Parts: sequence; structure tokens; C-alpha cells
Amino acid sequence: MNEVKEYNAKEFSVNPDVLMNFMKFRRSVRLFSTKNVEEEKIDKIIEAGKFTQTSGNLQDVSYVIIKDKIQELRKMVLQTLNSQADNLLYDETTPSQIRMYANMWKDMYGNFVENPAGEDKLFSKAQLLIVIKSNNIVNGALAASKMELMINALGLGTYFSGFLSRAVKFNPEIGKFLQIGDNEELVACMVIGYPKVHYKRTVSRKDVNITRL
Ligand SMILES: Cc1cc2nc3c(=O)[nH]c(=O)nc-3n(C[C@H](O)[C@H](O)[C@H](O)COP(=O)(O)O)c2cc1C
Repeated sequence: MNEVKEYNAKEFSVNPDVLMNFMKFRRSVRLFSTKNVEEEKIDKIIEAGKFTQTSGNLQDVSYVIIKDKIQELRKMVLQTLNSQADNLLYDETTPSQIRMYANMWKDMYGNFVENPAGEDKLFSKAQLLIVIKSNNIVNGALAASKMELMINALGLGTYFSGFLSRAVKFNPEIGKFLQIGDNEELVACMVIGYPKVHYKRTVSRKDVNITRL
């Protein structure tokens, strides 16, 4: 119970306009400095996930923190995407958008083989990945979203690696590597680091489609 806090308006309230600006200013970061993310900051990011709501209060979200084995994972993922790309390009019915990705994966793998320490479109040379696992995608995605806000509040940057999510579906060895349990799936992979890019303004978005009943 020592993690339970008594309510205190000064420390617990957030101005809605400031919150909106904070959320609007959140952008994906794909360029990172080599500075390591401190363990205390990693703890805070995980804490943001831990206190996120879960259906039935199951608290069934778990996390994999990857620092030392990023290159090992990168190799597995790029190999997997490369062989999957061959299958997709061979299949004449593959839609053009997917072909574009397949060609990108082949280039990424080719660059990796030529220079394993070089350019990295998969993890952007970040020093930290956090994989979020759950047997309930909504629970995992909610946690990821709160974690993303905390990452930004801590002066860090992040983007979601959709390519890893795809690779895991093609190659069960990646699931084993990430210790994804039988009743779990990979919900998201967050690529995290100190940003080497600074946005100057928010962006506009498409009009939202709202139905009122
Ligand atoms: C589920 C998901 C998967 C994503 N996968 C990738 C990815 O593999 N590589 C990447 O660079 N960005 C990825 N992104 C980031 C999106 O491209 C980005 O959020 C979108 O373009 C809007 O830009 P913003 O985040 O700067 O507002 C992903 C985002 C989501 C939500």
C-alpha cells in the first residue's frame, strides 16, 4: 500500500489546455542521440503503464526492456522481413502498398548485411526498446499510450515500431526471444531515446468523423 497517494489538488490536477497542447505536441521521434536513458526514467515509464486501467482489473500487461540485445533482435527481425519480402514480391496478388514495404525491407536487410552498425530504419539506432505484451490488445495499447506521454514528459522521444509487430507474426523465434507467453501477444514496441530532433509546432489532422445519435 505504500504506493497509494493521498489526493492533493496542487500535485494532482492538470490544466486541460496545457494537457491538450502537450498531447498535440507529441510527435514520433526517429532520430536519437547516443545518450543512455537512465534507469530511473525507465522505471517511471513502466510505472505509467502499470497504473493504466485494464479490463476486469486483470493487470495483465507485461514489459520487455531491451538494451543489450537490440542488435541481436534487429538481425532476427531484418532477416525475417527480408524472407517475407521475397514471398510477398513473388506473389502477383500482393497489393502495391505492401510491395512498397517489401522492397523497403529488402533494402533495410541489404544495408544491414553490408554494414551491421550502419543506418537503422528499424530501430533508428535507439539505445532502448520497450515491448508491451498482453493477452488483451486494448489493455496493452492503453498502457503504451500512457507510457508515450510519460516518455515525452521525461524529455525523451519515441515511435512505435510496427515492423517488429509484423515480423513477430512471421517468425515464432522472435516471440521466443521476447518471451511472449502462450496467452500473450506483442501489442507494441516502443523505440525510445533522447531526441536529436526538436519540433517547433504542432501538426494539423484530418477532420474527424463523428456520429451523434
Ligand atoms: C501502430 C503504429 C505503428 C507504427 N509503426 C511505425 C514504424 O514501423 N516506423 C515508423 O517510423 N513509425 C511508425 N509509427 C509512427 C507513425 O508513422 C506516426 O505516428 C504517424 O505518422 C503520425 O505522426 P506523429 O506520431 O509524429 O504524430 C507507427 C505508429 C503506430 C500507431
